[in-house]
Amino acid sequence: AGTGLVMTGNCGTGKNHLAVSMAKSIVREYLASVQITDVMRLTRAVKNTWRHGADSTEEDVIERFASLDLLIIDEVGVQFGSPTEMTILQEIINARYESVLPTILISNLTFEQLKESIGERIVDRVTDGGRNRLAFGWESYRAIAAGITA
Ligand SMILES: Nc1ncnc2c1ncn2[C@@H]1O[C@H](COP(=O)(O)OP(=O)(O)OP(=O)(O)O)[C@@H](O)[C@H]1O
Ligand SMILES: [Mg+2]
Repeated sequence: AGTGLVMTGNCGTGKNHLAVSMAKSIVREYLASVQITDVMRLTRAVKNTWRHGADSTEEDVIERFASLDLLIIDEVGVQFGSPTEMTILQEIINARYESVLPTILISNLTFEQLKESIGERIVDRVTDGGRNRLAFGWESYRAIAAGITA
């Protein structure tokens, strides 16, 4: 249905664990094109086309991300996003929204902080007006695995 999802939560709460499981299941069941990436890699892929003699154009790269059946973007709002980073992120998410293709965003920020970081419009689009969000509000699995918590 093209509906996206925002997954927020502290370190080690299993956001990537779930994202990878979803991606695997969707690829197997629907033979869909799914990619898991992060904001830094996404930005770098676009910026690489700005080099003289680059073998693909900025439009090609954006179109490639914009046309995947499912795009999962990790590390959203990790560092203060530069205007360029924001523009690239917004352009890809908007293009996907217009094509009714789902995007999943993963972040360590709270939902409210995420809105401040990447803008309310984008979060509103991905979550379909705030409905599709998942907060990972439990202990870190890393701490559990290391025997740090009870
Ligand atoms: N439901 C689970 N059952 C078993 N192990 C889990 C579960 N969820 C997460 N883990 C394990 O806990 C560790 C941390 O999970 P993961 O990397 O998904 O966390 P994260 O929320 O993405 O953390 P970060 O915000 O630091 O990127 C991984 O080794 C993962 O395999
Ligand atoms: Mg993670």
